[in-house]
Amino acid sequence: MGNSNKTLSAANKAKQDEFYTQLSDIENELKHYKEHFKGKVVFCNCDDPYESNFFKYFAMNFNHLGLKKLICTCYATSPIMYKQLTLFGEEEELCEEITNKKPYKIEITEVKDMNGDGAVDLQDIELLLKSFRSDECVELLKQADIVVTNPPFSLFREYVAQLIEYNKKFVIIGRMSAVHYKEIFPLIQNNKIWIGSGFNLTMVYKTPYQNTTEQNWRYVKSKGYNPEDGYIKVPAICWFTNLDIPKRHETMILYKDYNPEEYPKYLNFNAIEVGSIGEIPCDYFGNMGVPDTFLDKYNPEQFEVVGLAESSLGISIGMSANLTEEQLQSFKAENPSFRRGNPIYRDKNGKLRKPFSRIIIKRRK
Ligand SMILES: C[S@@+](CC[C@H](N)C(=O)[O-])C[C@H]1O[C@@H](n2cnc3c(N)ncnc32)[C@H](O)[C@@H]1O
Repeated sequence: MGNSNKTLSAANKAKQDEFYTQLSDIENELKHYKEHFKGKVVFCNCDDPYESNFFKYFAMNFNHLGLKKLICTCYATSPIMYKQLTLFGEEEELCEEITNKKPYKIEITEVKDMNGDGAVDLQDIELLLKSFRSDECVELLKQADIVVTNPPFSLFREYVAQLIEYNKKFVIIGRMSAVHYKEIFPLIQNNKIWIGSGFNLTMVYKTPYQNTTEQNWRYVKSKGYNPEDGYIKVPAICWFTNLDIPKRHETMILYKDYNPEEYPKYLNFNAIEVGSIGEIPCDYFGNMGVPDTFLDKYNPEQFEVVGLAESSLGISIGMSANLTEEQLQSFKAENPSFRRGNPIYRDKNGKLRKPFSRIIIKRRK
């Protein structure tokens, strides 16, 4: 890794999109989707087969999942082009076993030969060094049934917009903060995207970046990775999907009773403040402001998402700061993070408060 790091362009460094997902993280998520892959064309469009564990996962599980086709494309300017991760490293033995002692690189033909199912041959593995936005990749996207990858974070909005435009099924990795994007939240609200199994994860990625803090190093080491090999801890990661998983149908058990003292109403919107999702009252059917962790438990048969109480999305549902200018200024002085579209309530002591981040939800009857 050492030498190749020096070859990283300043632009790539600034963008910091190179975070390679570990195989165990991919396995942990994709085990919840197995039945979706049978007979399907899977497209990993930010993935160099020589580097990507997404490619590796699908190549190794091609027959087990019953895939029809696997297509991988990656971006020509990716700095991973200069080097290899551990794709042929520690798992070499296993791969050799699968491929009848042949090098892993030709595993795909060997999978075909071993099973005689004709499903995979080398033409089926297409390595195209193009942006996911290129015409060629869009053509491949049209052929695909399910897109699975960890896309570049800096292009997350565009990436998701393209999946939605072409009406594709997907399982992708993103940052938790993406939930708050004005392009992404409405998709969650309208049940076009939901959270996969993994929510608010702290991931260890392999990267070409070295600038980690001591605390980051300690974490990486505690998980059994060597930070000197470019492993970095990245918190607040989650999986986004539009494939149905059982979690989405689990009903939250609600046990608390509503009372106006414990659940103050917002001063600027007709909703009650619920500080943690375990406290969602079982007998309240109006609007409620809940933390983002709600999305991990969101079952659309149980709840409706009314909106995000933040900036333009908050304003669009009518979350207005209906305080006098004087009240507003003194509140802002104490709560510098307060923005238009955020809720305000008065706590038990009469003090004005702004909760950290709130999604407005409502029970379905
Ligand atoms: C977060 S990394 C993940 C890599 C791989 N999918 C994985 O999970 O290990 C995102 C990758 O997308 C690549 N990338 C950046 N812009 C791209 C584009 N326009 N089209 C396709 N890939 C792109 C980056 O170079 C980077 O390798």
